[in-house]
Amino acid sequence: ALYSLIAVIAAYLIGSLSFAVIVSRTMGLNDPRTYGSGNPGATNVLRSGSKAAAAVTLLLDAVKGWLPVMLIKWFGADFGLAEGTMAMAGLAAFLGHLYPVFFGFQGGKGVATALGVLLGISGWLGLATALTWLIMAVFFRYSSLASLVAAIFAPVYYVLCSGVVWYAETPVTVAIVAMAALLVWRHRENIQRLMAGKESKLGKKKQDAA
Ligand code: G3P
Repeated sequence: ALYSLIAVIAAYLIGSLSFAVIVSRTMGLNDPRTYGSGNPGATNVLRSGSKAAAAVTLLLDAVKGWLPVMLIKWFGADFGLAEGTMAMAGLAAFLGHLYPVFFGFQGGKGVATALGVLLGISGWLGLATALTWLIMAVFFRYSSLASLVAAIFAPVYYVLCSGVVWYAETPVTVAIVAMAALLVWRHRENIQRLMAGKESKLGKKKQDAA
């Protein structure tokens, strides 16, 4: 139980590293919380005009979800940690991104970090979810819409493939459903903008802070 607690807290702290802010600062760009949607995430960093900064943000925000899950997969058994802790550590990293202790609890929407967690849980699950995002993004050109659809499909894929590709573990199912629900909740302003036809499209620059 002690090792579980340490793992979950460590994952939360890693998740709290808001890479949109850290990468922008390092690369001498404006703070992503001050322009566009104001969201500290890869999509909004892209609105700065720097594809490189957006790509690095996406990668690092995903890694911080992936790594805690993988560390427990690789070394958890040595400390008596199983799927339950793995699932909670993934969720904790995601919560760190949404509510980062190092950034006044004002974090992002969790898309990249959730993807990292899913990739850690299963490469196929992560790949299917990422492809869902990509297909939606290519067709509709809204990052937020693509994220919402991918988030809803992730638990569907996980449960549907249970017994075929893998066996769905209850704590993992709980973590994936919780991430999807929180992700949708964090996109509530995007949902309003989408319904009002005011959401900014990918590939276009700038949009006033909501
Ligand atoms: O990654 C978050 C994305 O789904 C929406 O971001 O900046 O358009 O609110 P943004």
